[in-house]
Amino acid sequence: MALPVSDLTKQADGLTTMELGAVLPKTAEVRMGHLFIGGVDMVALAREQGTALYVFDEADLRFRMQSYREAFRSRFANTDIVFASKAFLNKAVLKVVDEEGLCLDVSGGGELACAQACGFPSERVVVHGNNKTPQELEEAIAAGVGRIVVDSRIELARVSEIAAAHGITQDIYLRITPGVAADTHAYIQTGCEDSKFGFTIRDDWAFNCVKDALEAPQVRLAGLHMHIGSQIFALHSYEEAIRVMVGLMGRVKREYGFAIEELDIGGGLGVAYTQADSPPSIDEFAHTIVSAVTDCCDEYGVDITRLLCEPGRSLVANAGVTLYTVGSLKTLPGIRKYVAIDGGMTDNIRTALYQASYEPVVANKADQPRTEIVTLCGKHCESSDAVVTDMPIQQPDLGDIVCVFATGAYNHTMASNYNGQPRPGIVFVKDGQARLVTRRETYEDIMARDID
Ligand code: LLP
Repeated sequence: MALPVSDLTKQADGLTTMELGAVLPKTAEVRMGHLFIGGVDMVALAREQGTALYVFDEADLRFRMQSYREAFRSRFANTDIVFASKAFLNKAVLKVVDEEGLCLDVSGGGELACAQACGFPSERVVVHGNNKTPQELEEAIAAGVGRIVVDSRIELARVSEIAAAHGITQDIYLRITPGVAADTHAYIQTGCEDSKFGFTIRDDWAFNCVKDALEAPQVRLAGLHMHIGSQIFALHSYEEAIRVMVGLMGRVKREYGFAIEELDIGGGLGVAYTQADSPPSIDEFAHTIVSAVTDCCDEYGVDITRLLCEPGRSLVANAGVTLYTVGSLKTLPGIRKYVAIDGGMTDNIRTALYQASYEPVVANKADQPRTEIVTLCGKHCESSDAVVTDMPIQQPDLGDIVCVFATGAYNHTMASNYNGQPRPGIVFVKDGQARLVTRRETYEDIMARDID
């Protein structure tokens, strides 16, 4: 089937640039028929490092981090951007996050351990999780983390007790569930009434628990936190949720005489996975959030002194791509064409889990039109094992290098060893240089924890 040849345009300088727009990492370009990112030939890189391979455009990562900071700080000076490390975590990205002056959201002891191993400043760490174990709380408090986001009354008591044992007063936020159903996949909505997260706003529960937090010894209620979900395009849900949060702050001030000063509005801004997606820009997002916060503060007589925003996906998704090698081709007449790659649900579970969609190209034919509709299936023992379903690609052949875009968020961190598959290595590219920052797993790694 022939598709309109709209993906690629010749430029005067002889290079070609793909018109996949917002889906691509900033430095993606086509040179002599090959896809280049960060000035590095993806075909040569794949052959040198082996596939499947995650590749990150470091300039793109830094650009988005700076864009977030500027977009918020130009509107609300005391804003901290808190990178949600669950979206993508290794030592290399933590170094970039630190250098760009961001804070860090950790949602488990392992994420905190990684931050500590990199020397990430503890006071810039925000600790999350709906069931932090006593050991994780102990580790967080011992590390001197900046804020612990308390999720339940049980946890409030635990934090208070552990802080007492350390002879400190711990700064905390309470996570509030504002009762707002964001327009996104049901699996990644978190602010709706039926949620395992946080203190529900319903029946004055959150309001009453604020009192508990104010009375708890060894903790200081520094702020409130919300996170309404992920991959969100419709920003009105944020406006609704911010109204609920600032409304609660106003009521606490009036009825308890206590001014809560900080507000963390969570993450969740959506990204473009395919050409069909047009998410709000970081600038539009910042505008909406800061306007809603300042308007609501005026209305409820609240003075917020520090604002926090916790993006994960929108910082890293489009900076990352995954490279694969085509190993098998099957055409089922009248049904579909399967192109089998040397990875799949082990390095990208999002297609099976959320019916996610991605744009693929053949990296060694990047100047050719995408004329075939194919399903890029994985090599694993599940029929749901596909990375891309029914999307256009260049005529695929055995041995081709396929690049799937926008795989930088929640792919590496949700990867598995199903079928004994070693997890891919990670390469950062920048200014024509490729740097292996996480090596591919070996078979020995897979067996390393087994005891003979
Ligand atoms: N803050 C909190 C408390 C969170 O739970 C999350 C994500 C974030 C911030 C960052 O959200 P983001 O900006 O990345 O949307 N595995 C799913 C996404 C799960 C999101 C979990 N929480 C996926 O692959 O789509």
